Amino acid sequence: MTSSTPPAPPGPPAAPRPAKDPWDLPDVSGLVVGVLGGTGDQGRGLAYRLAAAGQQVIIGSRAADRAEAVAAEIGHGVQGADNADCARRSDVVIVAVPWEGHAKTLESLREELAGKLVVDCVNPLGFDKKGAYALKPEEGSAAEQAAALLPDSRVAAAFHHLSAVLLKDTSIAEIDTDVMVLGEERADVEIVQALAGRIPGMRGVFAGRLRNAHQVESLVANLISVNRRYKAHAGLRVTDV
Ligand SMILES: NC(=O)c1ccc[n+]([C@@H]2O[C@H](COP(=O)([O-])OP(=O)(O)OC[C@H]3O[C@@H](n4cnc5c(N)ncnc54)[C@H](OP(=O)(O)O)[C@@H]3O)[C@@H](O)[C@H]2O)c1
Repeated sequence: MTSSTPPAPPGPPAAPRPAKDPWDLPDVSGLVVGVLGGTGDQGRGLAYRLAAAGQQVIIGSRAADRAEAVAAEIGHGVQGADNADCARRSDVVIVAVPWEGHAKTLESLREELAGKLVVDCVNPLGFDKKGAYALKPEEGSAAEQAAALLPDSRVAAAFHHLSAVLLKDTSIAEIDTDVMVLGEERADVEIVQALAGRIPGMRGVFAGRLRNAHQVESLVANLISVNRRYKAHAGLRVTDV
């Protein structure tokens, strides 16, 4: 008779890993945020809000002197640079150029944006006598176009639904809205959520992968209709989260 070692008795079942608290977000206070097209309404408004919340912000422009002049107007330590320098010096880069200049701007900055977290807030919209309507980018959305053009960057999408008018208005202390944040990597999405959450009144809410960015970008056409009818600067709240 051969003796064999009996199999080890089964151990206790592995304890389930505690679910991560989705509101447990990273400390982003040390990150430098760049804003491409930061001389425009949206970029200027975001730069002001983030800088006023204590973030180091560099706004970019196609012309460095234009960025420097706008940065001086914004104050709160905001710096200005040309778009390439802005991208190079930032950890997180928000893309706030018009849809018409989106592809060309990103293509020209592929090298400077390599390794960076790029946050697209561009809404591809058309306007005619019936109002605003969503365009259909070949890649699916502006954010997916950014991901296709920037293979060496980490691309997320956020800040589409904010009103630049409210962002820029220094008499308004809080912006009452949620920010839908989309992306492929949880860690990147959480960085953007945390940045949004630094602005008083705002929350960053995870809203899916980039393949669902089209609806989020398109929804701005609906918000523009709301704003026109009600003479408002409408924002969005996601309820029950
Ligand atoms: N306005 C809003 O309320 C709002 C809200 C949410 C999202 N967004 C999105 O944010 C983006 C910027 O909106 P905005 O209203 O701030 O636009 P904008 O003022 O027309 O443009 C922003 C800046 O982009 C630069 N720019 C203009 N044409 C360009 C081109 N062809 N190529 C590269 N850069 C160009 C300009 O800066 P320089 O001349 O200094 O380079 C301009 O100051 C848009 O994609 C929009 O969909 C806007």
